[in-house]
Amino acid sequence: MDSFNLYAKYYDLLYKDKDYDNEVSYIEQLLKPHNLQGNIKILELGCGTGNHAQIFSKKGYEVEGVDLSSQMIEIAKNKNKGDKNLSFFEGDITTYKSSSKTKFDVIISLFHVVSYQDTNQKIQNTFQTVQHHLKEGGLFIFDFWYGPGVLTDPPVVKEKKLEDKTLLVHRTATPVSDVNKNTVNVLFDIIITDKENNKKELIEETHTMRYFFIPELKYMLDENGLDTEAYYHWMTLNKPTKSSWNVVVVAKKR
Ligand SMILES: C[S@@+](CC[C@H](N)C(=O)[O-])C[C@H]1O[C@@H](n2cnc3c(N)ncnc32)[C@H](O)[C@@H]1O
Repeated sequence: MDSFNLYAKYYDLLYKDKDYDNEVSYIEQLLKPHNLQGNIKILELGCGTGNHAQIFSKKGYEVEGVDLSSQMIEIAKNKNKGDKNLSFFEGDITTYKSSSKTKFDVIISLFHVVSYQDTNQKIQNTFQTVQHHLKEGGLFIFDFWYGPGVLTDPPVVKEKKLEDKTLLVHRTATPVSDVNKNTVNVLFDIIITDKENNKKELIEETHTMRYFFIPELKYMLDENGLDTEAYYHWMTLNKPTKSSWNVVVVAKKR
């Protein structure tokens, strides 16, 4: 799955309205009750262009980011040249082995990265990666597409238009559900218009997203030595409801 290579260069423009600062503060809020001490070392699975990592670094955390897309990693590296708190690597989170000599205090995986792991094998391998890299008592925080929300309020075609000085990006996302696999294939059509000469580039890609239910995640986490400590409707401290689409889990390594 290297589909993100195609539109990596437009990723930051497409998500320029995403509130990464607030999301990092939220993750800090989830970490707070666990009283982590000293310099906190984070491994970020599916770090994309490094937007969360950059903010964590400014707050004094050390972050190692890994992503499947070489282009995303290149952008993350270029944006953060010279920042000694940050390192980025191309890699698959289902098989990744860090070269760090010490284990991590926290592992994060944000903006649905876990939902990209669309088979039991991939999710199992991802949780093994987490188990291998976390310190005892370390925390794993990830968000995902929440099954009850997806089934109660099924996905529909969505349009998104964003622009900067030189480019206009128009994305159409068309969902196709497979209720027997608990997945949604999201077909993206992206038209990029160069505003100076009106030249257009068309990108098409499919992202397969799996929605999960709490009992199956608890089971799979537990099988990998991870206890589910809490789960919330994303960006709140409330229990998910059947209209929650995005849920976050805090798990702790035994
Ligand atoms: C929606 S983006 C989120 C990126 C970033 N976390 C953010 O919040 O901007 C999903 C990312 O997950 C990465 N990804 C999906 N499956 C992966 C895997 N098996 N190994 C590494 N990265 C993966 C993609 O390359 C993409 O960068």
